[in-house]
Amino acid sequence: MPIKTALITGTSRAAGLGFAVARDLAEHGYHVVLTARDRSAAEPLAERLRQDGHAATALRLDLSDRASIDEAADYLTQTFSHLDALINNASAMPDYQTLSALEADMDALRSALEVSVVGPWGLTEAMLPLLTAAPAARIVNVTSLSAQQIATGLDLGAPLRSPAYSMAKYLLNALTTVLARALKDTPILVNAVDPGNTATHPERGDDATDRPAAESARDIVRAATLGADGPTGELFSNGYPAA
Ligand SMILES: NC(=O)c1ccc[n+]([C@@H]2O[C@H](COP(=O)([O-])OP(=O)(O)OC[C@H]3O[C@@H](n4cnc5c(N)ncnc54)[C@H](OP(=O)(O)O)[C@@H]3O)[C@@H](O)[C@H]2O)c1
Repeated sequence: MPIKTALITGTSRAAGLGFAVARDLAEHGYHVVLTARDRSAAEPLAERLRQDGHAATALRLDLSDRASIDEAADYLTQTFSHLDALINNASAMPDYQTLSALEADMDALRSALEVSVVGPWGLTEAMLPLLTAAPAARIVNVTSLSAQQIATGLDLGAPLRSPAYSMAKYLLNALTTVLARALKDTPILVNAVDPGNTATHPERGDDATDRPAAESARDIVRAATLGADGPTGELFSNGYPAA
């Protein structure tokens, strides 16, 4: 039985969710590929996992650069025979301080769409030969509650903040549905996971009330390791299908 492999995007920060997912999947026996726009940011994290006895590789990947996606696909195709899990975790929140859709910055929207929609879509296409070569690959798109806020008009007791980020995540959820449908006659399952507020940005000062990254990572890993009878095209929130 060949070793399982997983590619996790946005794995440049030790405190980030991507690294927590990489560690969890490594502990499940996967050879994990950690990616960052600057490979030198991912390499020390891959080295940490190797020091702990896991199989880990660092790779450069910029989701807003098609050539970078193709280079990553070439490298992976030459290195591995298959890909069991693709975790679209990378994210850009260029408008964290924007509190109204009427003040949305279009450049921020473009960059959020590149990282959360165009990039993951192109990456999925580029990885399809490797995903298809795995017995039952899983694709997990890491989304946000703010996407649900758009989808349902949900009043979360606060206005929709970060409109560019939120719109991009809303479209990532739509992409999850579209890809799940396109792959419905294959063993590949595609799901989205909202990790909930997670303590990944100590500098923001709200980590005490947020979920530990390792806890949120478990929800993502659960979607990445679903059995053959698992759902596809679902949105999971805090480990459960979203209402
Ligand atoms: N933390 C939370 O409370 C929370 C809540 C809901 C949803 N989420 C979602 O969970 C995921 C992880 O959260 P996080 O807080 O750990 O994220 P993060 O650190 O803000 O972003 C994850 C990674 O995305 C990478 N990235 C940004 N632009 C990129 C690009 N063009 N190409 C490739 N990578 C790029 C960054 O790497 P580099 O810039 O170093 O390349 C960064 O390491 C995100 O999708 C986020 O939206 C988080």
